[in-house]
Amino acid sequence: MAISDLDLVQAWKDVLALCKLTSGEQVCLLASDDSNRQVIETARIAIGQMGGILTILTLPPLNGDVALSRDKSGFVGKTALKGNAPALAALKASDLVIDTMLLLFSPEQEAVLKGGARMLLAVEPPEILLRMKPTAEDGRRADIAAARLGRACTLRVTSKAGTDFRCAVGQYPVLRQKGFVDQRGGWDHWPSCLVATWPNEATAEGILVIDTGDILLPFKRYAREPIRLTVEAGFIRAIEGGFEAEFLRSYMDSFDDPDAYAMAHVGWGLHDRAHWTTLGLYDREATIGMDARSFIGNFLWSSGPNNEAGGSRDTPCHMDIPLRGCSLSLDGELVTVDGRVI
Ligand SMILES: [Fe+2]
Repeated sequence: MAISDLDLVQAWKDVLALCKLTSGEQVCLLASDDSNRQVIETARIAIGQMGGILTILTLPPLNGDVALSRDKSGFVGKTALKGNAPALAALKASDLVIDTMLLLFSPEQEAVLKGGARMLLAVEPPEILLRMKPTAEDGRRADIAAARLGRACTLRVTSKAGTDFRCAVGQYPVLRQKGFVDQRGGWDHWPSCLVATWPNEATAEGILVIDTGDILLPFKRYAREPIRLTVEAGFIRAIEGGFEAEFLRSYMDSFDDPDAYAMAHVGWGLHDRAHWTTLGLYDREATIGMDARSFIGNFLWSSGPNNEAGGSRDTPCHMDIPLRGCSLSLDGELVTVDGRVI
């Protein structure tokens, strides 16, 4: 359903206020060919009304010929900033960067953040942005979860479907997404609310069962039968089941990259306006699936790169797989029970 410009301008102003945008700050709006025009136009107005000094930076699209789908989150290779010194300089000179093209997992993004700019990713369509617009309460919930995860040494996940997974944590930083970014050098994503970290090297072990109805991203499909994955010493060593397992295995094999099978971020969803069902109601190209990634109580695990956490793996193959009905514990203390945050 269409969203009025007025509502989206107001939503931007609310989010930019949470981002502590102040008059006179340098704001860079990063766009590309597939950026949503209404998102950009309304952001321009909101930034202007709040006194931000606006630069709009349009970069060419990239990776379309090598990605295996049109999903922006499905291929995480080099970005349009690679080798583009003027664009990088503009971003580094900004106080706030709003990314409507999706620059995940790049050394260039790390350089921008290290320079002190704060970055907010916003690539979902207007109606999803509005429904899942962040609040201060989302920030509080994510902060509490991130602090608990930050103290943890071990993470274990079980489910009635057969998942029994464990890993040591603490080697890599905690990823906290709350939907807005209010700290120098911070990065966040509107709309999101989740926490995660990366397993310590070679410690992820056990069984992950993707049950019927669980979601595979970037496939943007609900599994129609269980898939059983065996994880040993940090890597997925077996993917078993029927057609769904064969499809997943074949997709990951197509990258011809052993790092595609590494376990990547693990954590849980905290967004109470995100829904497991949303993906089933949408055209698959109309969303990147933030409902699926962040619905409250999911166990979101992933495979592939860990370079944005400071690791060495930069494979472009990245699966995000939110499981329902899991119980997640940190050092033996439960934080979710059967898919409910406690
Ligand atoms: Fe991910």
